[in-house]
Amino acid sequence: MVDIAQIRKDIPHYGNKVFLNSAGSSMMPSSVVQKINYYLHEEEKIGGYKVADVNANEIADFYKQAAKLISCSPRNIAFTNSATDAYIKALSSIHFKKNDVIITTDDDYSSNHIQFISLRKRFDIKIIRIKNLENGDLDIADFQKLVKKHTPKLVAVTHIPTNSGLIQNIEAIGEICHQKQIIFLLDACQSVGQLNVDINKIKCDFLTTTGRKFLRGPRGTGFLFVSDRLLEENFSPLMIDGGGAVWKGVDHFEMLKTAKRFETWEVPLALLMGLKEAINYANLIGLEHIQEYNEKLMLHLRKNLSGIAGVNLYDKGSETGSILTFRKEGKSLEKVTKSLEENNVYFSISQTEWGLIDFNKKGIDWVVRLSPHYFNTTEEMDKVSEIIKQI
Ligand SMILES: Cc1ncc(COP(=O)(O)O)c(C=O)c1O
Repeated sequence: MVDIAQIRKDIPHYGNKVFLNSAGSSMMPSSVVQKINYYLHEEEKIGGYKVADVNANEIADFYKQAAKLISCSPRNIAFTNSATDAYIKALSSIHFKKNDVIITTDDDYSSNHIQFISLRKRFDIKIIRIKNLENGDLDIADFQKLVKKHTPKLVAVTHIPTNSGLIQNIEAIGEICHQKQIIFLLDACQSVGQLNVDINKIKCDFLTTTGRKFLRGPRGTGFLFVSDRLLEENFSPLMIDGGGAVWKGVDHFEMLKTAKRFETWEVPLALLMGLKEAINYANLIGLEHIQEYNEKLMLHLRKNLSGIAGVNLYDKGSETGSILTFRKEGKSLEKVTKSLEENNVYFSISQTEWGLIDFNKKGIDWVVRLSPHYFNTTEEMDKVSEIIKQI
């Protein structure tokens, strides 16, 4: 259950702001900050190596908590410094060669597109994008045709884009990839912590996510899921180090058996502990409760805003999540920003560079992005709606 009174007590500095930027960097529960402070303080007292020894069980618990969150085994989890760090390591483990095909989408994250283009420059691979249906959903029939025609090396899909609330039909993508044994890389940066993400339903090979967004962890954290299939097939990051492998002979190393082979030896353990605490916090509430609460909250906000004259909502798709994007006719970016800031609303502006193809299709170059989470209330949704009405 979402006990909103307790949850708000756990954010002692919330004040009178209306915090709607969990898709950017959310507000941490105080227990997360306490855990990081405690750990750093211990490092101050006895040095980093000793603290790691003393806290070995708690550190191991990070992998258990992350595994519980997405329903896999701790052996499938690697700590990373960000979602992008996880993504790069996953991509680097794939042996691309000339004419290999990556199938992706128009709505994938900008950095993912940049990495695919970079791979194309180096390895002369091909990048193909799945068509969208009129309503913004992925055209699964088109995807099936593309798979048949190109036998892709990799399918890479972003669950929820950074710049719109669209939720992609990743179960359908995962099922097809699973049947054909195609590597499926899921960018779940905006969905983990917001939705009840279950690896067994998605059937992906890699999942990447960040700590600071809907998981409410510290900045500089994330994690990577690697499937058993890929672990058994010895997938490993190109630049593996002494954290992921042991130097056994002059010309030979042996990799760890678990996804920890995707980590580097040095890890910011204070932050890992903070992320563990954030995940534990979410697990205790229960992701099914968080998702249910968020769905109601968003329904309320979308209904409110769609009833205001001049407000245009830009989120496509038959399913949308906790990212809402809008503009108000005739109101400049400066005007909207100023009004929201004056009223202590925390939000983001998404611009073309973060979703180039999507923005071009929509014929716009910016949107206001509101991303409520389970610590927000319907009263806050009403408050922000009234502010937007007055702009
Ligand atoms: C969909 C998506 N993927 C990946 C990222 C990158 O996350 P990070 O900054 O943790 O690397 C973001 C960040 O906004 C994102 O929204």
